[in-house]
Formats: sequence, C-alpha cells, structure tokens
Amino acid sequence: MSRPTTTKRAAAVTASAVTALALLAPAAQAARPEPTLRSQTPVDLKIGSAVWGQRDLLGFDQKNLTEFQSILASEFDSLTPENDMKWQEIHPEEGVYDFSGADAVVEFAQANGQEVRGHTLLWHSQNADWVVEASATWTCEEARDVLEEHITTVVGRYAGEIYEWDVANEIFQDEWDNGGVRLRTEANPFLKACAEDPVALIGDAFRWAHAADPEAVLFLNDYNAEGINTKTDAYYALAQELLADGVPLHGFGAQGHLSLQYGFDTSIQANFERFAALGLKVAVTEADVRMPLGEDGEPTEEQIALQAERFDAMLEACLNVAACTSFTVWGFDDARSWVPGVFPEGYATIMTEDFEKKPSYDALLESLTDATPGKSPRTPPGLNR
Ligand code: XIL
Repeated sequence: MSRPTTTKRAAAVTASAVTALALLAPAAQAARPEPTLRSQTPVDLKIGSAVWGQRDLLGFDQKNLTEFQSILASEFDSLTPENDMKWQEIHPEEGVYDFSGADAVVEFAQANGQEVRGHTLLWHSQNADWVVEASATWTCEEARDVLEEHITTVVGRYAGEIYEWDVANEIFQDEWDNGGVRLRTEANPFLKACAEDPVALIGDAFRWAHAADPEAVLFLNDYNAEGINTKTDAYYALAQELLADGVPLHGFGAQGHLSLQYGFDTSIQANFERFAALGLKVAVTEADVRMPLGEDGEPTEEQIALQAERFDAMLEACLNVAACTSFTVWGFDDARSWVPGVFPEGYATIMTEDFEKKPSYDALLESLTDATPGKSPRTPPGLNR
C-alpha cells in the first residue's frame, strides 16, 4: 500500500531535486572560484609578488581589502617586501629602526595564509644616508659591527615568520663594469671596508642571519644571473667556497629582470641545475619583462606575445628543477611597477594598470596548471594538494 506513495514521493523528491539542481547549477557554476596562480601552483612551489608595504598595505583592513590587495591575496602565496626591509626604510638612522612597512607586509601575509621572502641585508644600493656617510671612515671591524647588529635585529624580529632571506644582493659587478665581474668592493660600503677579505664578511653575514633565524633559507641573489655566464660562474665559485667553509648558504636567486631589448639566455635551467647540484635551493626572485614602447606608450602584439614567452620560460625552468622553491614577480601590475621610473621602458608586469590579465598571466597560469602534482616531475606521484 505504501509503495505507490513512496514511489510518488521519491519521484516528487527526484523531480524537485532535479529542479533545484537545474536552478542551482548556473549559480553554483558562477560561484565556483576562478583558478588563480595561487590555486594552481604545485604544493612544493611558492608563487610570489613583491609588494611595497609602506605604500600599499599600511593600515589594511582584512574585511575590506582594496582591489589591489584582494588580487595580491588571491593570486599569490608568497610576498617580498619591495623596499620595506632595505636599510633606507627599516634602519633610517643609526640606532633607529622603523618596522612599520615590513610589519604591514608580514601581517598581511599572515592574515592571508601567505609566506614572506625577506629582502635584503647586504646590498650596495638603498643604504641609509647615515651608512653612506659613516662608511667613509669605517674600519672593517666597524663595518662588521654595524652589519652584525643590523642583521641580528632585523632577522631576529621576524624569526620564524620568513621562509627565505636574500642575505646578500648584487654583490658581484657586471662584465661591463670597471674591473669586470668581481665582488663590489667599491660600491658596497661593507665590502669596501672589508675589501681585504670580502668573502669572510659575506660568510659572516650568512652566519649572523642563520643565528638569528635558524629556520630561514638563506640566499645569494642577483640580476643578469639567469643563464650560465661569467657572473653566475663567479657565484658558482663563491658558493663552493662558502659551502666548503661551512657557511649556512642555502640558496641562489636569479632576479629575472628581463628586457625584450636583449636576448634571452635559455641556459637558465642548466644554471639552476648546477646550483642545485651543490645542494642549494634556487628561485626566480624578481621576475618582470620590460620593453621599449612606441610613441603611443603601447606595446606591439609581437612584444606582448614575446613577453609571455619570456615569463613562461623563467617559470618553466623553475618548475623543471625540483630545488626551485619560489617564483616571484616584481609587482604584478604596471601601475606599481618600478620599471618606468628607472628605465625608458614599460609594460613589464603580468597585469595592466587596470588589473587586466595579460597573455603573460595566462601563460603562467597554464604552466602552473599543467604542473599540478600528479603531472609534475616536481612532486612524487600520488601526492594530492
Ligand atoms: C627596486 C624597487 O622596486 C624600487 O621601488 C626602488 O625604488 C628601487 O629598488 N633589484 C633588487 C630590488 O634587488 O630590490 C630592486 O627593487 C630592483 C632591482
């Protein structure tokens, strides 16, 4: 007796379920979040962007993020303070630290489940005026004391909160500089004061950073350091020397500031492989691809396509080397890119000023998607996200 009723009810339930599904389907589809770089990145890689905390994150409201901030949160899982941890900003006067910008980056990252790459401790550029002035009369001992105090304070403040640190940045000159590829014992005030044995100072910078945060992965970092060339040969020799000395050096970063004016050295993967063979991690730390623009300020179709190829070539090299831990773009939108302020070039990032995704963005998204664990050589088969 109950059968027909049950059947009818079942039919009714089925019918209403179908109706509900039919009604829900478009909405559910619309609600399904679009893939982002972050959602497609293999578990053993971080996808990052530089961000200037002092300019773009100060006083951020997690419940009411700006469009820029919400893209930063949804597209990336690693943030590099673009300027906030440089001497000029974080240590503007002797004995005076200003952590406001750096704190904003770390707090934003933590609020959004992201990690932070520290940048940078020993560099010839963006040093505070007081450093430049004082260094004129420094002995090596004085330079060492100042650097040790700085590294201990800054790395110590964020201990446990920073997964990778660019300890030494751009410490080699270029081939075209006076004297060719050699340690920057003139432009870098610390290396200058310790020019008799700059390698000892570099090694100690890593030791001080390691003592302040034993968990952080400590990097050498430079531009024009993608392919195998005289500069990366010098880094390779230095890395061997430091490692032989027991220095806690853990990584080598290629900044990845490319310009379409120049060719692209496809030996980046081979270069990464040789550093990885030393037991080091590698990373693309500051990727952007700038180009000379026409009078209208616009790139050509060819330039747009070539930019996507170059971004993708750097990412592919990183994906293909298991030791590559992070791929970071140096800002993601043209409005905030450092390029137009420094070079007569532009269009260097993966999104336009209005956050429109460029083919470069699509190329990165596609390669990350293809490398998803299970398909990627980076991760053992069967490892799920
Ligand atoms: C740049 C910043 O993006 C600019 O805002 C700043 O005015 C100059 O420095 N290599 C590096 C980065 O290691 O720190 C530089 O960042 C770009 C080149």
